[in-house]
Parts: sequence; structure tokens; C-alpha cells
Amino acid sequence: MDIVLSGIRPTGNLHLGNYFGAMVNFLKMQETYKCFFFIADWHALTTHPDPKALNANVKNVLAEYLACGLDPEKSTLYVQSDVPEIAELYLLLNMQAYLGELEKTVSFKEKARQNPNNVNAGLLTYPVLQAADILIHNADYVPVGKDQEQHLEMTRNFAKRFNHRYGVDYFKEPKAFASDSQQMIKIPGLDGSGKMGKSEGNCIYLTDEPKAIEKKVKGALTDNGPEGENTSKPEYIENLFTILKVVSTPEMVTHYDNLWNAGEQRWYGNLKKQLAEDIIKTTAPIRERINDIKNNDDYLNEVIKKGAEKARESAAKTIREVREIIGLTKL
Ligand code: TRP
Repeated sequence: MDIVLSGIRPTGNLHLGNYFGAMVNFLKMQETYKCFFFIADWHALTTHPDPKALNANVKNVLAEYLACGLDPEKSTLYVQSDVPEIAELYLLLNMQAYLGELEKTVSFKEKARQNPNNVNAGLLTYPVLQAADILIHNADYVPVGKDQEQHLEMTRNFAKRFNHRYGVDYFKEPKAFASDSQQMIKIPGLDGSGKMGKSEGNCIYLTDEPKAIEKKVKGALTDNGPEGENTSKPEYIENLFTILKVVSTPEMVTHYDNLWNAGEQRWYGNLKKQLAEDIIKTTAPIRERINDIKNNDDYLNEVIKKGAEKARESAAKTIREVREIIGLTKL
């Protein structure tokens, strides 16, 4: 069975865009593939987070992923720092990662520019650690966004280089999970911008209370209404329809589409009310589960422990074989 692997940085809360984008795909994947999902807490250290905040974020992400429906029985769900084998593979891969190629990485150059006072070696070798994450389980597929494609390309290069240097056919070259087969739905922001994203401040979070959701939707950018019959919608109105399509019924979407096409005015208030109501319907059960899980440390600890065991079993096998290939086995 093909192996799918994805790493999640422990920063911030999940918003609607994350849910209908990556998460819905993860939920499908766990039914069909052997999946590894992990929280990349070592990667988070490159920006020197406050220890308490880091800890809380790892717990947060885990609770949110479980609440969305990632199933620790079906997938292997673990925390990166619980698997020391990844660190060993990272060390070994570092021996064949060249300074020149690491310095040229787009994500590194960007971080170095944004934060000139913290250009640390962990930042430089971030792609090597990511390659170790992927190669430790010899994953076939990695569902990645555009910003991660170069890291995946580098992973393939490290895998090829290793195979070539030692004359083996050991590491697979992991492929991106093609976005057309992923049917990634892009959820726009409420401010008329193209994408819901936490840096844009236009998000509805899964943990938002109904009151907060109503307020955010009410504040979404609109105008006076269509200027005639059958005109095309401006982007910020199209955006509201895009969200309506994923949380509401097709009949509801048709209803408001008809109002738009008829060139009628004064129905945005109703549209927003409906939209808020249906968003709340979608997120409320998830929010309640997040809260329940966060209050259940025993359950969280059990999930983490089981996940680490499963991940380490697969990782230990790789490390044993890699040591042998490299010549690190003892006499
Ligand atoms: N770099 C990824 C991100 O910023 C997180 C990540 C770490 C990852 N290791 C990974 C993703 C391995 C996929 C596979 O989102």
C-alpha cells in the first residue's frame, strides 16, 4: 500500500481554509493509504518559540486534528521529537547536503531576509530535516502546497544522491500529491482577498464561538448589490458564494444566485445571516470536540504514546538498514 506523509508546523489554530483544504483531503487519504501525520516541533524551533507556547501549540494542533476526524487507529499520528531516529537520519543526510544548494533555497532566503538576526544553521538545514521526515518512512506521496514544492524536490535529490553514492536503490523519490486529484478547495478570506490565511487576519477559526462567527461574517466586504441583471460578481461577492457552496445546500446557493442574476438589491443581510448559520453548523460540533479533547490529557497522552511507538517501529527499520548501507554497523 502506498505511503502518504505530511508534517504540520505547530503554529496557530485551524481555520475554515485549512479544514476544507488540507484536512478534508487528509480524511480521505486515511481511508485509502498508509498515512503518517506528524507535528513538526523540531522545525518550529528554528524561530525560537517560547517553550510554554510551543508546548501549548503542539497540544492544540493534536486536539484539533483529532477533533476533525484524523483517526489514530487508521493513521500514524505522532510528534516529531518523539522519534529520535529522524534526528539520526537528519545527521546522516546533512553529510551530503551542500552549502550552496541550501543557501539557494527560496524559503531560507526569505526567512534570512525577514529575520537577519536569526540566520541559524537549523534554518539553513530545514529542508534536510524535512527530507529526513519523509525518507524515514520511505513515503511515496507528500501532499504539499506550492510553498513546499522545492523542499520536496530537494528530498528527491537527497534520496537520489544517497542511492547513487552507495550504489543502492534504497530510498524512493517521494512525489507531490497532485493537486488536481486532491481537489483542493481554496477558501477565500472575508476581506475580499483570494485566500483565508492567518497572516491576513480574515479567518474564521474552527474554535470561534458562534457570536464571533456572526460578527466576522457580518463584517465581510460587500457593496450596494448588482448593477443590473446577469452581471458578473466582483471577487468579494464571489468569495461569499464560494464559502456558501461548501457549508450550505445547493438549493441555498441557487436561491442567492437567482437573486444576484435578477439584479435585486438588499439581500446581502440575509445571505450573511444564512452563511453565518451554516458555518456555525459546520464548525460547532468540531469546536465542541476540540474542547473535550483538550480537557482530556489522558486521551492525548495515549494517542501520542501509541503514535510514537508506531512511528518508531517504521523509523527504526530504516535506520538499521541505512546504517548498514553506510557501513556504520558494528563488528
Ligand atoms: N515544512 C512544512 C511546512 O512548513 C512542514 C513539514 C515538516 C513537512 N516536515 C514535513 C511537510 C514533511 C511535509 C513533509 O508546512
